[in-house]
Order: sequence, then structure tokens, then C-alpha cells
Amino acid sequence: MNHERIEKSVGWLAVLTALAISFGGFVEIVPLMVQQSKTQPAPGMKPRSPLEVAGRDVYLREGCYNCHSQMVRSLAEEVLRYGPAGQASESVWDHPFQWGSKRTGPDLSRVGGRYSDDWHRIHLLNPRDVVPESNMPGYPWLAEESLKGEDVQAEMRALSRVGVPYSKADIAAAPEAVLGKTKLDALIAFLQSLRAPPAAPQAAAATTSATGEGS
Ligand code: HEC
Repeated sequence: MNHERIEKSVGWLAVLTALAISFGGFVEIVPLMVQQSKTQPAPGMKPRSPLEVAGRDVYLREGCYNCHSQMVRSLAEEVLRYGPAGQASESVWDHPFQWGSKRTGPDLSRVGGRYSDDWHRIHLLNPRDVVPESNMPGYPWLAEESLKGEDVQAEMRALSRVGVPYSKADIAAAPEAVLGKTKLDALIAFLQSLRAPPAAPQAAAATTSATGEGS
């Protein structure tokens, strides 16, 4: 009968509901904040180069995330198609991460090395030149926009403030690294950097565990 009394008293119902939700939230969220596998970079991971940082900025600006995810789910068909399943530890230096949920186009988190830089150049200028049935828009203006060293430095400084391990020397060297490069060069460098972390299990091993086969 206590239950009925609580349901009839708005005050008690509100307080006890808030308590139940807070407890549920607490046990779900707090472990994620302290587990090493969620908060530490994957072994062997390196921070993005200045050119890749600039390319990621272009990726955000152009809204590529509206059609592309950057997270391979741990399902057999995804692992077979894209490569090792995504881990939280891959994204600890991404602010904000680009996991996404919309896939008009394929997942891009393992696209690095799948095509040559030249393929990406043609594809980004006009996707139909290499994939006739593509409905992805072209981005021809990126080839005419050059990068500004100080913008990349500002971005790297901001990233270092939230925990990406760039040294003063890394930031000082950034303008040199992007000198004479276009936003298209940067975006291609970023796409080529999207790979599984060096120590990730190989696709074949991940497939075995994703299908529940093997011992
Ligand atoms: C309107 C949706 C849409 C947007 C926006 C979009 N794409 Fe795509 N993308 C697609 C589709 C569909 C494909 C598959 C056909 C193709 O290869 O062109 C694709 C394919 C790709 C591929 C080849 C992937 C593979 O594994 O074959 C890359 C790389 C890519 N897109 C990068 C980008 C980048 C970078 C941007 C932002 C500048 C972007 N896309 C914006 C829809 C989109």
C-alpha cells in the first residue's frame, strides 16, 4: 500500500523518481569517466599533424558528418566491410568526436589508405568522375582556399588546453607545415589519417569475436 500512497502524493513521487533516475545515471556515467579504456588514448596513437588538424576543421565546416559516420559498430557485417570495430579510446583527442549516426555515405573511420591522394582529389572535386552513381556533393572551392598558419596554431593551442599532447615546438612548427597547402590538401591528409589505432585487433580476429565463433 506504500506504493499507492507514493503514487498519490506528487511531492514524494517527484522526489523518489528523481532519486531513482540519479542513481541509474550515476552507475552508468561514473564508470565511463574513470575507466582507462575510455579515457586514455589507444596504445600507439599519435596526435594529428597540423595539416590533419586543418583538414578536420574543413570536415566540420563542410558538414561531412551529415552523411558520414566515423564509428564502426561491433557487428560482423560492419567489421567485414570497414575493419576493426571502433573503440572509445580512439576518440579521446577528438573535440568534438565525429562518431555520428547518419550514413548516407559509408563510414569513414577506416578510410585512410584505401584510396590514393589523387583519387580523393578527383572524388572531392566531383564525386561522379570516379563513382558515376554517387549523390555526394562536390567541393571544388576547397582547391582554391589556402590555409593560414596562425589559424592552425590557434586550433592546436585550444586542443592542447583540453589534453591533446602538443608541445610548444609542435605548435611553433605548424605554419611551416601548412605553408602553400590548400584546404583540399588538408582534407585529404585528414581522410588518409583515419585508420584503426596501431594496436587494434586485426579485422579477422575482430570478426571471429563479433560472430561469436572461435573459443
Ligand atoms: C549528401 C551526403 C554526403 C555528403 C554531405 C558527403 N558525402 Fe561523402 N559520400 C556520400 C556517398 C553517398 C558516398 C558513396 C558514393 C561515393 O563514393 O561517392 C560517399 C563517399 C565518400 C568517400 C569514399 C568512401 C569509401 O569508402 O568509398 C569519402 C572519402 C567521402 N565520401 C568523403 C566525404 C567528405 C570529406 C565530405 C565532406 C567534405 C563528404 N564526403 C560529404 C555522401 C556524402
